[in-house]
Amino acid sequence: KANSELKDFLHINDFDKDTILKILDQAAEVKALLKSGERTYLPFKGKTMSMIFTKPSMRTRVSFETGFSLLGGHAIYLGPNDIQMGKREETRDIARVLCRYNDIIMARVFAHQDILDLAKYSTVPVVNGLTDYNHPCQIMADALTIIEHIGHLEGTKVVYVGDGNNIVHSWLLLAAVVPFHFVCACPKGFEPDKETVEKVRQAGISKIEITNDPKEAVQGADVVYSDVWASMGQKEEAEHRRQVFKGFQVDEALMKLAGPKAYFMHCLPAERGTEVTDGVVEAPYSIVFPQAENRMHAQNAIMLHVLGF
Ligand code: CP
Ligand code: NVA
Repeated sequence: KANSELKDFLHINDFDKDTILKILDQAAEVKALLKSGERTYLPFKGKTMSMIFTKPSMRTRVSFETGFSLLGGHAIYLGPNDIQMGKREETRDIARVLCRYNDIIMARVFAHQDILDLAKYSTVPVVNGLTDYNHPCQIMADALTIIEHIGHLEGTKVVYVGDGNNIVHSWLLLAAVVPFHFVCACPKGFEPDKETVEKVRQAGISKIEITNDPKEAVQGADVVYSDVWASMGQKEEAEHRRQVFKGFQVDEALMKLAGPKAYFMHCLPAERGTEVTDGVVEAPYSIVFPQAENRMHAQNAIMLHVLGF
């Protein structure tokens, strides 16, 4: 299938640059419409969505459910104890049942293979709401936020400081499609997936740097980005990680090194005093709340795209 006609939204680099930029444009358009108070654009009228969560969530759950309903649809929340994916029932059976009721399936899961299996067995679009490997909806919202604040994503320098995790993988996969400068500064042993880094470097679209020196990395940054040091599923490693990640906290001094034009971003939830200081989250250069708001608008456009609007 052509890059623009894929059924599912699983990885940003499944799509070509034109499609990604088109989705971001549509996000801005529908955002403006919704912000104007307009409530008559109801493309999802008569449509339903299942939302599978095997992990906790605030933003993903509320933004998907609210966005789908504001555009006329009805969303059904399935929490960790409801369908017990892989335990009470096999993923491939869940996919084949839900797609007979619903027009779209959104899922947040542990193993990336689970989202691939859902997509393989579902006849309706599957949207990735985070896996252990990536978080494409988040990075689409982040791209929208950067475009709103800086005017463009192309050519900007985004410096992520912390764990080379699912957020980093989605930044990398975006960098395989849209040209910008992406730097990941992480402790030794916590680098992002090597194969992914290699693939993105080979795509030759963006400048990619993986480093262990946050102070040097942030210089000239347009955006300094942070995320938790222990992701969902790694909370028992939190204490150990707190030791290893010392020196990777985004604090006022690091933001000063980044320079006066640098914005601070964080996908949230943030652990203040750990990966970021309270002062940075609350600073005028912090855009974490507009960023969180854009989850809904980016996802509305993603759903419009996969549903063929
Ligand atoms: N950023 C994000 O995905 O937040 P939730 O875990 O609250 O959904
Ligand atoms: N890396 C974090 C992102 C949360 C939105 C996690 O997976 O827990």
